Amino acid sequence: MSHEDFPTDEPAVVTCGLPYANGDLHIGHLRGYIGADAFSRALETLGQETAYVCGSDMHGTPVAVNAEQEGVDPEDFALDWHRQYEETFPKFNVEFDNYGHTHDETNVETTQEIVRTLDDEGYIYEKEIQVAYDPDADQYLPDRYVEGTCPYCGAKARGDECDEGCQRHLEPGEVEDPTSTITGNPAEYRERTHKFFEVSEFADFLTDFLDGLEGTSNARNQPRQWIEDGLQDWCITRDMDWGIDYPTADGEDESDLVLYVWVDAPIEYISSSKQYSERVGEDAFDWEQVWKGDGEIMHVIGRDIIQHHAIFWPAMLEGAGYNKPRGIAATGFITINGKGLSTSRNRAIWAKEYLEEGFHPDLLRYYLTTTGGLQQDVDFSWDAFQETVNGELVGTIGNFWYRSLLFAYRNYEGTPDADVSEEVRERIEGAIGDVRENVNDYSMRGVGGAATELAQFGNEYIQRNEPWKLDAESEDATQVIRDCVQIAKAVAVLLEPITPDKAQALWAQIGEDGDIADAHLEDALEAPPRDFDEPGELFEKIEDDRVDELTEKLEERVAAASDDGDEETESDESTDAEADGMSDTDDLEPLADERIGFEDFQELDVRVGRIESAEGIEGADDLARLEVDIGFETRQIVAGIKQLHDLEELPGEKCVLLANMEKAELFGVESNGMILAAGEEADLLTTHGDAAVGEKIK
Ligand code: MF3
Ligand code: ZN
Repeated sequence: MSHEDFPTDEPAVVTCGLPYANGDLHIGHLRGYIGADAFSRALETLGQETAYVCGSDMHGTPVAVNAEQEGVDPEDFALDWHRQYEETFPKFNVEFDNYGHTHDETNVETTQEIVRTLDDEGYIYEKEIQVAYDPDADQYLPDRYVEGTCPYCGAKARGDECDEGCQRHLEPGEVEDPTSTITGNPAEYRERTHKFFEVSEFADFLTDFLDGLEGTSNARNQPRQWIEDGLQDWCITRDMDWGIDYPTADGEDESDLVLYVWVDAPIEYISSSKQYSERVGEDAFDWEQVWKGDGEIMHVIGRDIIQHHAIFWPAMLEGAGYNKPRGIAATGFITINGKGLSTSRNRAIWAKEYLEEGFHPDLLRYYLTTTGGLQQDVDFSWDAFQETVNGELVGTIGNFWYRSLLFAYRNYEGTPDADVSEEVRERIEGAIGDVRENVNDYSMRGVGGAATELAQFGNEYIQRNEPWKLDAESEDATQVIRDCVQIAKAVAVLLEPITPDKAQALWAQIGEDGDIADAHLEDALEAPPRDFDEPGELFEKIEDDRVDELTEKLEERVAAASDDGDEETESDESTDAEADGMSDTDDLEPLADERIGFEDFQELDVRVGRIESAEGIEGADDLARLEVDIGFETRQIVAGIKQLHDLEELPGEKCVLLANMEKAELFGVESNGMILAAGEEADLLTTHGDAAVGEKIK
């Protein structure tokens, strides 16, 4: 692991959190796989040797419980879903170099070897613990077989995760008031001997590890807090049949315990890399160089599994003598029309559904990677999707591509004979630099932004030079169109990680042979072939009635699912009690006597923003430094909310701010705007609909 900028001389592995092989894929899954796919493609355009690996997560109660409900064997059940995923990902141009699964031989062997090493090194011990048990079902109740209350935050929680509250991992026995999900009975406790991994031994190591970790700030900051709160050892075995057997010292399998799914799942990152090496040969890709040598490891995950990746996993890797990740990028959640995605309520956009509606995968790829920063929650609505597609893909990129190539084809039958102008060359070089920087910052949104801005520049350039008013034979016209063809090619190269098919189509239109995925950023400056055929339009507008129809369909579906009385939620319910809004007017600040005119009000430039990051300011008890995206730019704002809010929870939240507030400096930090908040508790203002970031409040 080095921290020199990408591209490095050593190979890299990009992974994405393994999907549980237990149900249909939806847009929430796709965000991660598409984001990681774009990241790995972008690294390749920088010249970084990169393998993108993943696999299906076959074990654990998430699979066992669902298989049981369907009355099928968990292995058959999981394999079935695994095969479906294998078919689905390429339909979104998510191209893994290897896609395995956690139940395959490579992973069983690698897992047992790693656990044996941890055992040999003295990091594993046995302990008697109380395990939940359902006497009627005559069965132990690991993880999702039990539900109760989170001991840390009081939210309703599963046996091993506070999925609706603080997102913490919970140890067996920790969940309060446990009930069996099989019968609904209160669980009994029985004593069992289990294996524990000494995570607590790794506190110092993990602190250093986090100091050097790249990626999103949530993945670095949250774990620090957990370490400060004190690390617990981690129970790594379960009373279940479905899983990988705990390996005994001599390799004989006589244990009746299986490994906890979170042990063998991340090990698939290694196993999948091994399989890729085996397939292409070690000369082409050497997994050991990455996992044991100087290579680079980057994980893209959902923010609900930060603890597993930033605490348990690096401790395991360290204990077993493997390399640790260089970067962890944790994505926010997807909401649908402002509400949490809920599979049980059918409030989701399903992967299959999206394709069946006939939309090209690249449209969704562009939307999901460029709509919000990686850490932010992204709200999906067909309206917003339409706006992005029609505005940016059709209006900016597609429009530029088509008009410049058509002009070139009609007047020059291809690329006019001239050199690219200095201005345009520099502009393209600037965009290449932006892409390089954004990839190193793990910002696919930034990569997309650089490409779209270049297309926007192209539109302005052609508009400014009005080649249609010039004689096509003239030097001036030739120069403008020569420049535009180069910009068109450059936009395609820059955009390939995000919209690979569309970029490939443009590549073919300008007469380039081969695969644009093999192009590097510098190729954006190479002259396109002399001749090309008549171009076609690559993006199509989405009409309003189509959007109305889709929105209605979605709403009806959600309503139908709610009518079924299905009460199961997936962090989609607001828990705010309405009564909280009540207050006695005696406590309120008196109303202002003086009235102001509308013009005075208009002078306040109040905008919708989205908080990108929030951290306390050292030395100041109450102040936090926020970075807030206001559409045009990201503002640094100092706000007196350090004590009043959980700063880690803020990234991704929408807020309202006074953008033309005088600048101020507080504790040496410049504040460029003012966040609006209500009352003593600084209840942050937000919007209740889909108002876009940057929208003015009036
Ligand atoms: N299947 C897990 C989930 O969906 C993710 C596993 S990621 C890995 O939450 F690290 F374990 F591979
Ligand atoms: Zn909790």
